[in-house]
Amino acid sequence: MNLDILLGLQWGDEGKGKIVDVLTPEYEVIARFQGGPNAGHTLEFNGLKHVLHIIPSGIFHEDKINIIGNGVVIDPVIFKKEIEALEKMGANPVKNLYISKKAHLILPTHKLLDAALESRKGSQKIGSTLKGIGPTYTDKTARNGLRVLDLFAPNFNEKWDAAIANHQDLLDKYNFEYQEILPQMITEWLESIKTLTRFTCIDSEYEVNQYLNDHKKILAEGAQGTLLDVDFGSYPFVTSSNTVAAGAFTGLGVAPSKSGKVIGIVKAYCTRVGSGPFPTELFDETGEQLRKQGFEFGSTTGRPRRCGWLDLVALKYSIMINGVTEMVLTKADVMNNFDTIQVCTSYNMNGEITDRFPANTDAEVEPVYTTFQGWNCDINTIKNYDQLPVAFKSYVDFIEKETGVKISIVSTGPDRSETIIRS
Ligand code: GDP
Ligand code: IMO
Ligand code: MG
Repeated sequence: MNLDILLGLQWGDEGKGKIVDVLTPEYEVIARFQGGPNAGHTLEFNGLKHVLHIIPSGIFHEDKINIIGNGVVIDPVIFKKEIEALEKMGANPVKNLYISKKAHLILPTHKLLDAALESRKGSQKIGSTLKGIGPTYTDKTARNGLRVLDLFAPNFNEKWDAAIANHQDLLDKYNFEYQEILPQMITEWLESIKTLTRFTCIDSEYEVNQYLNDHKKILAEGAQGTLLDVDFGSYPFVTSSNTVAAGAFTGLGVAPSKSGKVIGIVKAYCTRVGSGPFPTELFDETGEQLRKQGFEFGSTTGRPRRCGWLDLVALKYSIMINGVTEMVLTKADVMNNFDTIQVCTSYNMNGEITDRFPANTDAEVEPVYTTFQGWNCDINTIKNYDQLPVAFKSYVDFIEKETGVKISIVSTGPDRSETIIRS
């Protein structure tokens, strides 16, 4: 069996959590492969709304195995809160959630370093979620990180002391005030590892490969989006992991020769939280309308998301890098009452028309738009693709024709049930 991968094709928050939850019945295992609590994946069903940060979005299906892979970074404090929230809802995640021994741990001082580094950047700040993601991946690649397996090792205290002392040196150098808050953060962290160590910690690469050999279907769940990838996003305004399909192979220990479907999630317009280029961003009433009607406020930080039109230059770039085999279109219902809808089909860069996504973050990019007629009706309750309005289907046809990739699912609302699967 091959590994299917589901990931975001824009700047995150495309609706990955909802779609993983919808697709989970087709799979036996759901595995997160990168990122950490910077992610916020929202699921809605049976009148309930739930946001997951580190835990895979298959967790509400009790008969399915969920894995936090080696490529993920875990904050035990946030993990504990997530587990407590799930247990309150009657779930029993200890039974169906396994954690890679190789996943790296976010320490309290990683979060402080994140804040210190952001404040030093001033107007060039990334707009990080301040969950300690950058400093944790930095320690991982610098070979200074602590991993889940260290929690069970006799020399844990030694490793912990060395890491904290190293971080304190850096914080002192940055003149960052941490003395008052650190002791409480450390107490909370050490308390939280009691929850983490209750879970089955596994050599996830062995387990995942065994599942595939046993013909079990696995869905790898991406976090963030392609345009936030550390290599291919709008660097430096990116996250610190490989959010693209290739990240699933390193983040789970699966060979690229075992690649299955690559399911790309695309929002019918674009949003971005934090700093960095966003060619189709709208600063007018329409942008405000998208934000209001789409409830575009961060699932992790509550920050208002920047909103703009769908960008096909960026989308085609994402499709190329990920080798997307099918797409899921989400949140088109947010534009139910729009008279017209714009889609960016190329960029004008200093008088030259291009369909390439620029490597340079400072590039002056002016989007060239094609205008579509809005469908001006409520699509949320429609269950059959053929019953969707003609104007909506023209919009879908255009995206498919431009990208060469089929849209296999249309999401028409936040709830699990508001989903049209095309035959
Ligand atoms: P993720 O990070 O990709 O999982 O996305 P988020 O959960 O951060 O943000 C997506 C938001 O849109 C959440 O509030 C979802 O409940 C909501 N959502 C998902 N799909 C749809 C859709 O098709 N229509 C509408 N209106 N909302 C949706
Ligand atoms: P999901 O999985 C949207 C953004 C932050 C910031 C940049 C770096 O819910 O789609 P970091 O905390 O990683 O150092 O922040 O990346 N960012 C996200 N934006 N959705 C996310 O995750 C994000 N995770 C990080 O806003 O601009
Ligand atoms: Mg999100």
